[in-house]
Amino acid sequence: MMSSQKPISLLCAAVLAFAPIAFAQTGITVVLPESRIAISSIGNPFVLHKNFAARVAAETSQARSRMVAQTPPMGWNSWNYFAEKVDDKGVRDAADELVASGMRDAGYIYVNIDDTWEGQRDASGVLHSNAKFPDMKALADYVHSKGLRIGIYSSPGPRTCAGYEGSLGHEAQDAQLYAQWGIDYLKYDLCSFNSDVMEKQAPNDKAAQMRLMVAAYAKMDKALKVTGRPIVYSLCQYGWDAVWEWAPSVGGNLWRTTDDIRPEWDRIYSIVSQQAGLEKYAGPGHWNDPDMLEVGNGKLTLAENRTHFSLWAMLAAPLLAGNDLPNMKPEINAILTNREVIAIDQDRLGRQGTRAYSEGEVDVWTRHLAGGALAIAVVNAGDNRYSTHPFHLSLANLGLHGQQTGKDLWTGKRITLSDGQPLELGSHDVLLVRIDAPK
Ligand code: GAL
Repeated sequence: MMSSQKPISLLCAAVLAFAPIAFAQTGITVVLPESRIAISSIGNPFVLHKNFAARVAAETSQARSRMVAQTPPMGWNSWNYFAEKVDDKGVRDAADELVASGMRDAGYIYVNIDDTWEGQRDASGVLHSNAKFPDMKALADYVHSKGLRIGIYSSPGPRTCAGYEGSLGHEAQDAQLYAQWGIDYLKYDLCSFNSDVMEKQAPNDKAAQMRLMVAAYAKMDKALKVTGRPIVYSLCQYGWDAVWEWAPSVGGNLWRTTDDIRPEWDRIYSIVSQQAGLEKYAGPGHWNDPDMLEVGNGKLTLAENRTHFSLWAMLAAPLLAGNDLPNMKPEINAILTNREVIAIDQDRLGRQGTRAYSEGEVDVWTRHLAGGALAIAVVNAGDNRYSTHPFHLSLANLGLHGQQTGKDLWTGKRITLSDGQPLELGSHDVLLVRIDAPK
């Protein structure tokens, strides 16, 4: 609209951008496709939108943010093991251990502080961290100095799930604060926005409630982009309202697909079962998130830890370890740093695996990988039967023809699979095979 435009004569405008730029020239939108553009228009009467600079900045940062999470984010998050006990020292220890354990070099680079870091807002509305985190900027600097990135947590509501200060009404201010601190990742958890905003503003109107929620996530996305800092944006609203359908449109790089995970086989298996069918929504820059890892937590057996990790890799899920890193057992470290399993998760094609078929208590998942390779995961969800009465794998069901040679990623040995092959699998255990040249 003319009223929102201001005629100016551009003597020389040099615009550096990383993405196509659209701008108005006497009402006409011109799209410049070059990645780096220098405009020199001596004396030409261009008409620019008055928010041209903001738009360039936004589009530049959008282009940058498109660069994050090209493969599912990997790192560590404080919640699953430490919950509200997380503090500055615990985060530094986790960062140190990511380096010492070899996890950073295996790809785990985000150190994410979950809920309970938040303090009070001052008179200007600026949020301060609480006594557990005396200096967030110094902590971020420390984490960065280890070659790692740092993540933080908030809620679109007035309160986080643990009852701490949320971002409602302070989105732009909080996003700027994160950028100042050097934050690289935000998990944004619905929490009180549901009870305090959605249900209050639109009682009994689920569609209107959903619109409020989507708008809240879009608002923080915009605030993050305005900072110009590439920040991974993680949506946490428990998979409500088919979040996978709209999360990418509000800038979500990942979105939780279910309610919380727990370190129990039944819970993990139930989450896995809810992922089947969501594969088409995942891809580079935007991932389904079946929640953070419980590998090494609770009473999970080694087989359960292996299966959990294998399935997260098949699902192209974010790999955010949630265990007590400084006290990690070597066998847990070995699971978390199995490079060939990580390579499945991080495969550059970014195609999430599918449940190809189930028979009895056995599920067979496949994942197509770059270069025509295929990963197969056979999971015994039963309590014992298939360790004594072998399961017979149907390669035909997987679209494969005849004998296949691959690698068993947990034994590291070559394996030959033939149609109808009997497989003896321990309870809750997995056979994970990579076939480089499937036939
Ligand atoms: C839950 C969320 C958990 C954790 C917790 C913190 O809503 O699903 O992953 O972030 O809040 O209070």
